Amino acid sequence: MAPMYIVMLGPPGAGKGTQAKKIAQNLDLVHVSTGDLFRENLKNETDLGKLAQQYMNKGELVPDDVTVRMVEERLSRPDCELGAVLDGFPRTPEQAEALGDLLEKLGGEVKVVPYIKVPDEDLVERLSGRWMSPSGRVYHEKFNPPKVKWIDDVDGSELYQREDDKPETVRHRIEVYNQQTAPLIDYYRSQEVLVEIDGTKPIEEVTDDIMKAIEEA
Ligand code: AP5
Repeated sequence: MAPMYIVMLGPPGAGKGTQAKKIAQNLDLVHVSTGDLFRENLKNETDLGKLAQQYMNKGELVPDDVTVRMVEERLSRPDCELGAVLDGFPRTPEQAEALGDLLEKLGGEVKVVPYIKVPDEDLVERLSGRWMSPSGRVYHEKFNPPKVKWIDDVDGSELYQREDDKPETVRHRIEVYNQQTAPLIDYYRSQEVLVEIDGTKPIEEVTDDIMKAIEEA
């Protein structure tokens, strides 16, 4: 069976990570988040992590060549044999072209691009109220609170807030998204794989809408 790739598209805080985890679990695919991969490198103090940190803390994109190499390496691993749910990649037209070339080599293609739409004014509230578990689970103090304050429901670890979720950095990330990533909406629309998803609905309803879009594709 040819591998299947799903690309989650949307601004910072739209819910790409929240949904990508659920979709990957439902379809038994691997969740590949470039943000998580950079943060893992940062935690392990690798050279890649140190480089990425300079960009991430400012809300800028990590250079394309570095990012593409990291994704190529990740998607070539055996656990991605059936495909992957890509979260946060591609983020520039150059990355999208590189992904197309890579998937051709791997014998697959982008099947669906759920584009999660959320108005800018909601994004700052979502990100400033976001709490993360070291294992990558995502909570929100109002919309998706943990059972016990600031403790991960599953493994009991302490939750933390991301360095780049400060309101001024969030606003810059949204600008960067509008300038560099939003052109991908038309790119994937012209390939007839883009599906618009209303990201203002409750989390479970958004998941149902994305699953329906994938089944229809
Ligand atoms: P990355 O980690 O990818 O961040 P992002 O794209 O800015 O997206 P977020 O993770 O902030 O938001 P999300 O859409 O996943 O929302 P979430 O599900 O958490 O990238 C970080 C940095 O790494 C970049 O700035 C860049 O420097 C670098 N980087 C990464 N990829 C790169 C690339 N390809 N090229 C270059 N550089 C790259 O949800 C947000 C909050 O809302 C949560 O609290 C959640 O609980 C809540 N929520 C989710 N859904 C709903 C809902 N339906 N209703 C109410 N609340 C909801």
